[in-house]
Amino acid sequence: MKVTVAKSAGFCFGVKRAVETVYKEIENRKKQKEYNRESNKESNKEGWDHIYTYGPIIHNEQVVADLEKNGVTVLNSMEELLAIEHGTVIIRSHGVDRKTNDYIRERDLKLVDATCPFVKKIHKTVMEKSRDGYAILIIGNEKHPEVQGIKGWSESDTFIINTEEQAEKFEYDRGKKLCVVAQTTFNYKKFDKMVEIIGKKGYDIIVVNTICNATNERQAEARQIASGSDAMIVIGGKSSSNTQKLYEICKEECKNTYYIQKLKDLDLKKLQTCRNVGITAGASTPNNIIEEVLAECQN
Ligand code: F3S
Repeated sequence: MKVTVAKSAGFCFGVKRAVETVYKEIENRKKQKEYNRESNKESNKEGWDHIYTYGPIIHNEQVVADLEKNGVTVLNSMEELLAIEHGTVIIRSHGVDRKTNDYIRERDLKLVDATCPFVKKIHKTVMEKSRDGYAILIIGNEKHPEVQGIKGWSESDTFIINTEEQAEKFEYDRGKKLCVVAQTTFNYKKFDKMVEIIGKKGYDIIVVNTICNATNERQAEARQIASGSDAMIVIGGKSSSNTQKLYEICKEECKNTYYIQKLKDLDLKKLQTCRNVGITAGASTPNNIIEEVLAECQN
């Protein structure tokens, strides 16, 4: 069996940076505690040493569990954020809306912003263009935290669409200014089609393609490997939208495509008759899982 692993499989730049940020904070906290002990200084703020991430830092249960072991707590809602008084809050690569960002800054909390710089750039575009009188149209999944965050930086009318059908139905005052951006992990072909549909409606339109290159490259490579494979394995968390999209792309090219979260989900019997097997993984899949799956296939 020949096994090909996509070069672009696994952590993207933004996710790697966010995960490293949390581990760095854990180290900083240890050093600070050590220093306090040695110099007999104790902080009178209860919970000053606590580290929180606003939402799981990545869509990967193993990484989140390891961080929990190191004393990092996941805040799952605004209510949970409101309930804490001290400590460090790390914003993950998806970013947050402006209100949440300002709220953390205004409190006695240390904010560590691990928002991916590419997402930050979308926040900036949305804020500036909305101030310039553009309505904002976000192409992406409205339930995704990244999209909710982007929406929260707009100061004008904001719309979110996710399908070509919604693009067809989209209505806004003709002649008005419209700025279109995309969720970073959106499928490029679909984005192109949707922009074409919207473009025909006669708005004064600016399109900023904010789809991240890491996603483009990962999708293109996955498609190419899947098209030449008898079976394709896509590794990633259940709730990772970029992994789900990778799965859809691979399935189009190779009907024996399997979506697994970790090695134990892999049914090797299904691969027995395959000559060429491809492996790819979503942006939040750690390298060690990819390597385990590769080793198992090569056994
Ligand atoms: Fe950033 Fe792109 Fe990853 S936007 S978080 S580098 S997929």
